[in-house]
Amino acid sequence: MTQIVLLGPPGSGKGTQASGLEQRWGLVHISSGDLLRAHVKEGTHLGRRAKPYMDRGDLVPDELILDMMAERMGAPDAQRGFALDGFPRTVAQAEALEARLEAIGQKLDAVVYLHVPEEELLRRLSGRRICPSCNAIYQVDTMPPKVAGICDQCGAALIQRQDEQVEVVRNRLRVYAEQTAPLLEHYRRQGLLHEIDGTIGVENVMAELARLLGGVRQQR
Ligand code: AP5
Repeated sequence: MTQIVLLGPPGSGKGTQASGLEQRWGLVHISSGDLLRAHVKEGTHLGRRAKPYMDRGDLVPDELILDMMAERMGAPDAQRGFALDGFPRTVAQAEALEARLEAIGQKLDAVVYLHVPEEELLRRLSGRRICPSCNAIYQVDTMPPKVAGICDQCGAALIQRQDEQVEVVRNRLRVYAEQTAPLLEHYRRQGLLHEIDGTIGVENVMAELARLLGGVRQQR
């Protein structure tokens, strides 16, 4: 069983690569953002509490995130291994994850940091479209759907995320720098951090990840 974290700023490709890892390596893609957006869509208590934070581009409080993630990671399918996308995002979340894994005799295998410069992140996010039904991710310039505005996988009409306005994106980047970037040092100290250049194209990033996972599985 392989358990990895994908780390990087908004738009660095965490969701795109985690989805590829699910399709090609069988790791379950667990996205805290997708889980939160599903709660918002369904109007659950958690969704109603999380929405104002998400709309501003701020982090949702840790106490709301931790129970949601623990429940998802405890589901039967996640026992075959997972790629975490968007979690952990604070040192407190990372410590809670470590404590949870340790309690069940497990640990993370690797943390992969996708490095992408800020101007490229802004360009990618302004052209991102997502499927509200199956969460597939597209980019109008570099990864367009076969039929404009329609999901290749399920045929639903594609949408832009609500937190994609320029000011909200800039706040998400600020929040990342202040609250999530310190995790790089946290994981570097543990010898778990691997950096991949996130600008080399989706397939090349996937090839780098495959090489890394091959090594991780040999070590287990
Ligand atoms: P979340 O949904 O996690 O958003 P994010 O981290 O800001 O990341 P994104 O989904 O924007 O980007 P990504 O790295 O997945 O990139 P993608 O693959 O889509 O979080 C949303 C909100 O929820 C947060 O602001 C917060 O409020 C809350 N939240 C979530 N988790 C939380 C937590 N743990 N704690 C507290 N609050 C939390 O790619 C981007 C675009 O680039 C796409 O169009 C894609 O097609 C394209 N692309 C991808 N890879 C490449 C490539 N190699 N070359 C060219 N284009 C590429």
